[in-house]
Amino acid sequence: MEKYIIEGGRPLYGEVEIQSAKNAVLPLLAAAVLTEQKVVIHKCPRIADVLNMVQILCELGFRTRFEGEELKIDGADAANHEIPAALAKEMRSSVFMLGSVIARFKKARIAYPGGCDIGLRPIDLHLSGLRRLGVTIDEDGGYIDCACEKLRGAEILLDCPSVGATENIMLAAVKAEGRTVIRNAAKEPEIVDLAGFLNKMGAKVRGAGGAVITIEGVSKLHGVEYTPISDRIEAGTFLIASAMCGGELELKNADADNIASLIHKLCEISCKIYAEDDKIYIQSKRRISPKLVETSPYPGFPTDLQAQMTALACICEGATVIVENLFETRFKHVPELIRMGADITVRGRSAFIRGVKTLKGADVFAGDLRGGAALTLAAVSAEGLSTVADLSHIDRGYSGFEYKLRGIGARIRRVRI
Ligand code: EPZ
Repeated sequence: MEKYIIEGGRPLYGEVEIQSAKNAVLPLLAAAVLTEQKVVIHKCPRIADVLNMVQILCELGFRTRFEGEELKIDGADAANHEIPAALAKEMRSSVFMLGSVIARFKKARIAYPGGCDIGLRPIDLHLSGLRRLGVTIDEDGGYIDCACEKLRGAEILLDCPSVGATENIMLAAVKAEGRTVIRNAAKEPEIVDLAGFLNKMGAKVRGAGGAVITIEGVSKLHGVEYTPISDRIEAGTFLIASAMCGGELELKNADADNIASLIHKLCEISCKIYAEDDKIYIQSKRRISPKLVETSPYPGFPTDLQAQMTALACICEGATVIVENLFETRFKHVPELIRMGADITVRGRSAFIRGVKTLKGADVFAGDLRGGAALTLAAVSAEGLSTVADLSHIDRGYSGFEYKLRGIGARIRRVRI
């Protein structure tokens, strides 16, 4: 196991290059299954979730090769439709391979997916959407077996705007016969990016980014070269790092429009933020409580920045209420923040936080990806020495996290224990 050793309490100054979005790259890798031709993904981050997804592609018979930041995929000889259980259990996003594997091979077999332990994370909307497209699905012994001779377009209404279910249905519908309409679709920027990728392959996807997505099925999709959008959650993580530690940062390859809800909150806290082209500048001094933060589907406040915002609220002047509306158990970082001197009470989906002047260094443990990032920010801002253990969670979603933090003045190093 590895941990960070962090000596906190210093302001952060400098530039940070934001990676391509984990939650955009993962569905693009699933979409690569849809063609026998070559696919190239530029600026592909070598984070654990991406490497795990690449391993799944290899198990399906795809040839993959990293050349610097370019990931090259060749699916000419792919023929296996079974996603290995060990890999499927590693992460949630394995489940949206179902749509593209069925569209390519007319069948698919996958173990129930794993991923961050942040809630029940059902896949009922994925499966009901695929059934609407004509897929027969058997669930037995922890495995999901899917088969479909011919995918047919359908009208699909999602009970909630699930990101993964929207993506899974898109990935199957692009090669279904006829028209598919997805209503109450997720509107995240990663959905728009997936639609852009699919359309560049020859698909006909309209309306991504809105609540209604219309897909006219096509018989064949060709190869593609593509550069994914930047990671709005990584960008938000560094903006919150600035707000917690003070100083001035310039984020490069960052899109302020995709995190407008966070930027609005940070301006309420009294950060000075402005954006120009693909850069975001932030200057932070005082920290006034944002009073209330409620997570909701895009364009609302992202649940993937809730843990980081909770850490920031711990050292804001005044009281803050944070409400987590999407996942049932996404407050695992709270007991660890309390060990650092935070004053937080959790009741159900709400965390009631009374700001303290500063946090104190402590040995803390990350229970999930974004909680790990939040605890790292807390340690970088805290007085004294901290350790943050089990970096495997952070490594799933952040490329070179400690290098980027060190590059802007944090005293942080990774050690094996
Ligand atoms: C995606 O997960 C992201 N992961 C998550 O990011 C993100 O937190 C989440 O969307 C919400 O924005 C990837 O894109 C790989 P959902 P996903 O389906 O697709 C309920 C990170 O840290 N639901 O939109 O699993 C579900 O219980 C990760 O990068 C059903 O009820 O999220 C939840 O309450 C964590 N039935 C809500 O929808 C279903 O079939 C949102 O889940 C599916 C979901």
